[in-house]
Order: sequence, then C-alpha cells, then structure tokens
Amino acid sequence: MKNIKKTSCALFTAIFVLCMSSISWCNGQETETEGGPMVKREKEALYYVIQGFVGKEWNGSDLYHDPCGWTPIQSVACDIYDGYWYVTTLNIGLIHDNSLSCSPNVQFSPQLFQLRHLKSLSFFNCMSHRGHPVTIATQNWSALSGTLESLEFRSNPGLNGQIPATFGDLMKLQSLVLLENGFSGNVPTNLGNLPNLKRLVLSGNRFTGQVPVNFGALSVLLILDLSRNSLSGTLPFTLGGLKSLLKLDLSHNQFVENIPNQIGNLKNLTLLDLRNNNFSGGLPQPIQELGSLQELVLSRNLIGGDIMRLSWPNLQSLIILDLSNTGLTGEVPESISELKNLRFLGLNDNNLTGELPSKLATLSNISAIYIHGNNLTGELKFSETFYGTMGRLFGAWDNPNLCYQTGVLSTSKVPYGVKACQQEVNLYGKNVDTDSKLGSNQDSQMVASLGNSRNGMNEFWCVYLVKIVMTVVFFNIAM
Ligand SMILES: *[C@@H]1O[C@H](CO)[C@@H](O)[C@H](O)[C@H]1NC(C)=O
Ligand SMILES: *[C@@H]1O[C@H](CO)[C@@H](O)[C@H](O)[C@H]1NC(C)=O
Ligand SMILES: *[C@@H]1O[C@H](CO)[C@@H](O)[C@H](O)[C@H]1NC(C)=O
Ligand SMILES: *[C@@H]1O[C@H](CO)[C@@H](O)[C@H](O)[C@H]1NC(C)=O
Ligand SMILES: *[C@@H]1O[C@H](CO)[C@@H](O)[C@H](O)[C@H]1NC(C)=O
Ligand SMILES: *[C@@H]1O[C@H](CO)[C@@H](O)[C@H](O)[C@H]1NC(C)=O
Ligand SMILES: *[C@@H]1O[C@H](CO)[C@@H](O)[C@H](O)[C@H]1NC(C)=O
Repeated sequence: MKNIKKTSCALFTAIFVLCMSSISWCNGQETETEGGPMVKREKEALYYVIQGFVGKEWNGSDLYHDPCGWTPIQSVACDIYDGYWYVTTLNIGLIHDNSLSCSPNVQFSPQLFQLRHLKSLSFFNCMSHRGHPVTIATQNWSALSGTLESLEFRSNPGLNGQIPATFGDLMKLQSLVLLENGFSGNVPTNLGNLPNLKRLVLSGNRFTGQVPVNFGALSVLLILDLSRNSLSGTLPFTLGGLKSLLKLDLSHNQFVENIPNQIGNLKNLTLLDLRNNNFSGGLPQPIQELGSLQELVLSRNLIGGDIMRLSWPNLQSLIILDLSNTGLTGEVPESISELKNLRFLGLNDNNLTGELPSKLATLSNISAIYIHGNNLTGELKFSETFYGTMGRLFGAWDNPNLCYQTGVLSTSKVPYGVKACQQEVNLYGKNVDTDSKLGSNQDSQMVASLGNSRNGMNEFWCVYLVKIVMTVVFFNIAM
C-alpha cells in the first residue's frame, strides 16, 4: 500500500513538474472539465479497458472526450484526487439497457491495473458465451490492492478457470461476489487473509475441494455464501471464528459428516442454510444457542437422530424451519408451537412417529406445515377453520397410520390425503362411501403433485418472499 502511495505521489510530482516546465505538453495531457482536469494516461487507460470488454469498434475518445465531466459514460464513476479526476467505479455488462454490453471476444486489458483509484469493479452478464470461454487475468490484481473495495462477477457463465490467488492481495476488499460464473478449482486459501471482507459470495460456480481452514479468520464477515458448488469434505471447526456472521449458506454442495459444534458461536446468525449436502451425525445441540436465527434450513441431508435433541423454544426468532428429508426420528415437539414468528414448518419425509400436537394451530403467522412422509399415528385434532385456512399447505399425506376425526368436518375441509378415522374401520366392513374413497384411494403421487398446485405455490412464495427481503437487507448492511 505504501509503495502504491509513493508511486502515485511520484507520478503527480512528475506531472506537476512537467506541466510547469512545458505548458504545451501539459495542455496535451489534461482536459479541463467542470470539476477539474483528467490525466491523459488515466483517460486512455479507461478507453482501452472498456474497449477490451466491449470491442474495438467502441471509440471512447470520439464519443466521450471528457468521461468524468461533460460526457459521462454510463456505468463509470469518477472522483477527484489532488485536483485530478480518477475512475473509481466501473460496471461492465447489461445492467441497464444502455450500458456497455460486452463483445464475444472479451479481453482484460493490462491498463485495467493502471486505474489506481478504482474502488468498485463489476461485470454483469458479460462473459456469457459458453462457446467462447474466457479466463480471468491472473496477474497484476495486487496493483489494485490499495483501493479496490468491491469486486463482482455476476452471471458470466463463459468465465472459466480458477480464481486468481492474487485476489487474496486485495487488502481493502469488503465485498467479493463471484455469483453464477464458470469458475472451477479450489477456493484460494488466502482469501481468508482479507481483513476487511464483509461479503463473500462464491455461489453457483463449479468450485471443488474443501472450505479453507483459515476462512475462520474473517472476523468482520457478514455474509458467507458458498452455495451451489461441488465443495466437499468436513466443515472446519474454525468457522466458529466468524463472529459477525449474519448469513451462512452452504447449500447444494457435498459436505459430509458432522455440522461442527462451533456453529453455536455465531450468535448473530440469522440464516443457516445447509440443505442438499451429506451432513450426518445428528442435530448439533449448540444450534439452540442461535437466538437470532430466522431461517434454519437443513433439508436433504443424512443428519438423523432425535428431533428432540434441541430445545426448540430457544430459537425464538425462527420464521422458516425446514428439517425435511433429514432422517430425523422421534415425536414432533409440541414446543415448536412456542416459536411465534414461524411461517414455514417443514418436517416432511422423515421417520417421525407419535401424534401431531394440535397446539401447532396456535402459531398465528404459520402459512405452511408439511409433515407428510412420516410415520405419524393417531387422530389429527385440528379445527375445521385450521384446515380451511391452511388448505393444501397443511401436508399430512403419506402417514399410513394417521387419520382425521370424522363428524366434525365438512367434506370440503378434510386434510388432504388423510383418511377418516372411523371410515377406516368401516372399510373393513366394506361400507365404503364417497368420503372414504376420497381419503383412501388417492395415491400419494397424485396428492404430492396437487400439493404443489397454483394456489399452494402462491402462498409458498409469500413465505420465501421473507427470504428475499432479508437478503436485500443483508446486502445493504454489507455495503
Ligand atoms: C477513435 O477515433 C479517433 C478520431 O476519429 C481516431 O483518431 C482514433 O484512432 C480512434 N481510436 C480507436 C481506438 O479506434
Ligand atoms: C501485468 O503487468 C505486466 C507489467 O506491468 C504486463 O507486462 C502484463 O501484460 C500485465 N498482465 C496483465 C494480464 O495485465
Ligand atoms: C451482534 O449484533 C449486535 C446487535 O446488532 C451487535 O451490537 C454486535 O456487535 C454483533 N456482534 C458481532 C460479533 O458482530
Ligand atoms: C452422499 O450420500 C449419498 C447417499 O448416501 C451417496 O450416494 C453419495 O455418494 C454421498 N456423496 C458424498 C459426496 O459423500
Ligand atoms: C425410517 O425407518 C425405516 C424403518 O426403520 C427405515 O427403513 C428407513 O430407511 C427410515 N427412513 C429414513 C428416511 O431414515
Ligand atoms: C406476524 O407477522 C406480522 C407481519 O407479517 C408481524 O407484524 C407480527 O408480529 C407477526 N406475529 C407474530 C406473533 O409473530
Ligand atoms: C410405523 O409405526 C408403526 C407403529 O406405530 C410400526 O408398526 C411400523 O413398522 C412403522 N413403519 C415404519 C415404516 O417405520
């Protein structure tokens, strides 16, 4: 950093001296604008950089002779340092209709690394030609280490290869977002050395290997999203060092074995999403210490063990609890009804037994309860109003020994795919009426598909809207 300051200081001094000694040379080097002049070298570097991404036919000096002043380039922002304009922000890609769109032959011009005041660099939908793979410049990123705070590559499926280890030199970086590109290989260990990193999103690439042990050193990190890659191995217990973390998303990878107990150190965590992995070893008890947790999603793992292992009422902030398809055993805890903010409860496709506590109906904000695909028994004792409000979003099918009380419900309100208690007895007496046909003849495949009917999806979206809103809030916090 010091070296860079020295270099740019020397540069200014040199320009100043040259300006003083030769007025005509100086006029050639700068352009007067509203705010101040721009060093020619900076301006030309900007033209070359943009040309590299959008194509040779883009002639900046023609169209934008004063890019920081009178003829601004959309998606470029500048600031004044020591009386001169410098580029601080560069957004390449189709963010707005008229902004710079990329050519198929994208090139990282070496001049990119001469923009010495660049704070924010982003690429959106730029390297999108899968048939024309582009690898990222690997060298010289450290030239931006004194300034770059935000580096983003979003939706560039044609961008392949490993991410440069030199990203680990960008000491000022607060946000590194590499979302939905074609990156592969290991996640560089030295990203764990970035002392100011608040947001690290590597989601939707083809990264392999393990989570580096030293990621635990990212003590100001707020968002860690490694979802939708092919990461594997066990999670390092050092992740317990991410004390500021609000959001941890490791979903859709191939992580195995225990969820480390140190997860309980992440006291400010509001989202923990580990779905679609191979975690096993039971629910880690320290999860119950995460009092800020609003979304806990562990579905599609091999977790196993008793659901009662956690004291659920501790998780008072929970809005979404999804434990579906995790091999859990035991009875549905009645204490879940104390989670007053709960909107979504997914316990389906486990090995849960016993009766379903009717107290769950006291959850005032609940919009979906899925308990299908278990081995629940006995009578469902919810009111007609409850079934009426929930509709298909109360999923109880595929519990062979479960039935609903007869006589108290009108036929339009009976829980979907569940048989009537007494009529089951009648079945043996071959006294089949229309109601029992409804209850017993539906095959689970059909019920499951109807469970996803249009109405159902709308309400389900309501629930996940919460997630979207929360994500936006986090991004704002992170920025
Ligand atoms: C842009 O246009 C100017 C003047 O029309 C020309 O001198 C210059 O060579 C062009 N630059 C590029 C990179 O095409
Ligand atoms: C890195 O910098 C060196 C020297 O400044 C230059 O020769 C090289 O082309 C640059 N590489 C990239 C990829 O920009
Ligand atoms: C956790 O959140 C609280 C309240 O927002 C904040 O005061 C505290 O500093 C946070 N803890 C860490 C380790 O960031
Ligand atoms: C995950 O578990 C499934 C089912 O047991 C197995 O087929 C798969 O190979 C496992 N994957 C890994 C990465 O361990
Ligand atoms: C549930 O238990 C049955 C019988 O013990 C077993 O065969 C089945 O694999 C279990 N299912 C899950 C999802 O753990
Ligand atoms: C139910 O949700 C509303 C907002 O949708 C919220 O204001 C209210 O506090 C929630 N009620 C409970 C009991 O959490
Ligand atoms: C479901 O529970 C009953 C006892 O309540 C038991 O007989 C049956 O084997 C269980 N089914 C499975 C698939 O575990």
